[in-house]
Amino acid sequence: MSMYQSIMRVIPLALLLFIFSCKQSNEAGKTATQTSTTANPDKEWWKEAVVYQIYPRSFKDSNGDGVGDLKGIISKLDYVKSLGVDMVWLNPIYASPNKDNGYDISDYQQIMKEFGTMQDFDTLLSGFHQRDIKVFMDLVVNHCSDQHEWFKSARSSRQSPYYNYFHWWPAEKGKPPYRWSIFDEKGDAWEYNKATDSYYLHYFADAQPDLNWENPALRQEIYKMMRFWLDKGIDGFRLDAIAFCSKDTLWPPLPAEYDGNWGMYYASGPHLHEYMQEMNREVLSKYDVATVAEAMGDVERVMKFVDPARKELDMAYYFEAIDFGYLPKEYKMPDPKGYDFVKWKKIYEKWTEAFAKTGWGTIYLANHDQPRMLTRWGNDSPEFRDASSKLLQTFILSMRGTAFTYFGDEIGMSNIKFERVEDYNDIELLTNYAQVKAKGGNLKRFLEGMKISSRDNGRTPMQWEGEPGAGFTTGKPWLKINPNTATVNVESQDKDPNSILNYFRKMTALRKSRPELVYGDWDLLDDENPSVFAYTRSLNGKKLLVLLNFKAEPATANTGLDLSKAKLLIGNYETPSVDGKLRAYEGVILEL
Ligand code: GLC
Ligand code: CA
Repeated sequence: MSMYQSIMRVIPLALLLFIFSCKQSNEAGKTATQTSTTANPDKEWWKEAVVYQIYPRSFKDSNGDGVGDLKGIISKLDYVKSLGVDMVWLNPIYASPNKDNGYDISDYQQIMKEFGTMQDFDTLLSGFHQRDIKVFMDLVVNHCSDQHEWFKSARSSRQSPYYNYFHWWPAEKGKPPYRWSIFDEKGDAWEYNKATDSYYLHYFADAQPDLNWENPALRQEIYKMMRFWLDKGIDGFRLDAIAFCSKDTLWPPLPAEYDGNWGMYYASGPHLHEYMQEMNREVLSKYDVATVAEAMGDVERVMKFVDPARKELDMAYYFEAIDFGYLPKEYKMPDPKGYDFVKWKKIYEKWTEAFAKTGWGTIYLANHDQPRMLTRWGNDSPEFRDASSKLLQTFILSMRGTAFTYFGDEIGMSNIKFERVEDYNDIELLTNYAQVKAKGGNLKRFLEGMKISSRDNGRTPMQWEGEPGAGFTTGKPWLKINPNTATVNVESQDKDPNSILNYFRKMTALRKSRPELVYGDWDLLDDENPSVFAYTRSLNGKKLLVLLNFKAEPATANTGLDLSKAKLLIGNYETPSVDGKLRAYEGVILEL
């Protein structure tokens, strides 16, 4: 037999063996997953994921310009891995003049200069992937920046090929029909543009013109851009303000029943779901990725995005619970009486039950649009910082829905509570401040309220170390660093086995090891208890009981369950209660 012949004989055999061994390991993989959870037909990696949200501007500055950047994140990859999270959501990192910190994009396929280069991005992505961490990007396509080439061209002439990438009202038809704008001092979503003698639409700031989704050419541009990032290997998108993308371009007057609830009104564009289905068909379905919709509106509206039968998006981020406890029609002015805890639990019950029937939800208590969760939902006094931070982590990681943790919450960062308007950077706050001022309103009262609710509270730099730059920067930070970095920081908590940080690590490990916490049924108990959030998570005959005292006084959970044989899985006190009698901000998870 010639050498050639013998090789040709061996190859098919090797191939056969190879195919056989692949098949075997595949089967083995299958049984392993089937027994480790249940035969849940809806098992998906993104339901099991524990998500960590990184606000790149505030995470880690690598070059001393005071602004966080991609190289900074790269230097902290091992830290992120150490948290036990397996998915990261990055706030926008695209080229942007930063009128709304990256939510005003001037080029979707370039990296923001301050953040680094595309090469840095590629290194970051592969760094996360090497550590088995998925990466979600923010997709901001309801609007772009007025510095985007499309808009620069569009606003120069009605003949521009990009004119119809935006929404216009020609001035010869008189004044445009009223639409409200969130980041506009005048509250007017139409801005006059001289060169075209027409008004363009901007639901957000005037530097954020709305894109015209009714134009199929625009939609194709967006899909092309999405493919660019997906082909790089990213694992999904969080779709910013997506509920607003379709508009009724006949611009009818606002309906008589309109009560200022713009979130609901804007979220009902006539072709919204056709576009989501088209996006799914043409782009998303071609990749193994997942999506989170920033979905405004009521249960019925939100479900449409995530009902699997409709083939649109995967998970919904909803607002009713996070927006709770503010005075009506007064920006985000916290109710001085506090919030009604029993009603708040019922909001969670309503949404959790809805997602049990259809689709999939998310659980979060903070993000870049919110204050710090510790200040808003826990207690940031030195006495209760530790217990209440851990309590909130226990809540997020034991609820039903994909769990999102905002950077810094793993160490119990709290609101900075600026005294002076000059310390703020955020366009939302500055717009609202100007409005209160123009109306001759009470600015002092406004600033007091903003100490609790303003977005900049959640955007101060990450507290890595105790020294004044917090290990975040060697330069002047773009937003002041909370002086409590002296005591609240990663470096000290990393060494302390009982720290908030190490509790978070234990809690993510528990979430990953107990399928009940992901797929289990969720049942609210002791509904009317004014202090305790009590619920069970049950799956395959196993039942976990979660008891969380959200108040600064001791409280008892009356669940009616027999706790005499309960086994403690985790608790935020050194000697956790197993009898349902909880100390201030005490939280436990028991196995029944
Ligand atoms: C989303 C973002 C927010 C931004 C707004 C406009 O709500 O989360 O930060 O200001 O959209 O893009
Ligand atoms: Ca920098």
